[in-house]
Amino acid sequence: MKVAIRYFTRGGNTKKLADAISEAVGVEAKTTAEPLSEDVDILFLGSSVYAYGVDDQVRQFIEGINVKVGKVVNFSTAALIKSTYKQVSKLLEKKGIPLEKEEFACKGSFAMMHKGRPNADDCRAAAAFAKKMCS
Ligand SMILES: Cc1cc2nc3c(=O)[nH]c(=O)nc-3n(C[C@H](O)[C@H](O)[C@H](O)COP(=O)(O)O)c2cc1C
Repeated sequence: MKVAIRYFTRGGNTKKLADAISEAVGVEAKTTAEPLSEDVDILFLGSSVYAYGVDDQVRQFIEGINVKVGKVVNFSTAALIKSTYKQVSKLLEKKGIPLEKEEFACKGSFAMMHKGRPNADDCRAAAAFAKKMCS
């Protein structure tokens, strides 16, 4: 099974999850600045929310996908909302790329909120989730 990991991070929170997933599934985690270069069965796509939306780089990455993606598995961090699932889902729908209904989401530190998140427990849970998705 061919697996890829892409993520966008401004402050490093979502990168923590990407790195945990990377270690769990044995695939390098790259940023959304790097387009997919070959067909994949599963694309783990990490993002976070800034003023209720995902960063423009995530939108551009999705819009630029020109290989076959079996499905996307969403993972994200946010301070207030639950996850970026809705935002990512809308973008993928336009491209006709399936989105796995299960996702991994946890709190991400922001200002005085959620200090240290994602923490070691979050990363362990993300790793277990990723392994399950690939099994
Ligand atoms: C400029 C800015 C705007 C944000 N807006 C939201 C928001 O609207 N809703 C929310 O839940 N979190 C919001 N956050 C919190 C981030 O989603 C959270 O800190 C996330 O973990 C950041 O991930 P990153 O470090 O990978 O970029 C915002 C953070 C920043 C810096």
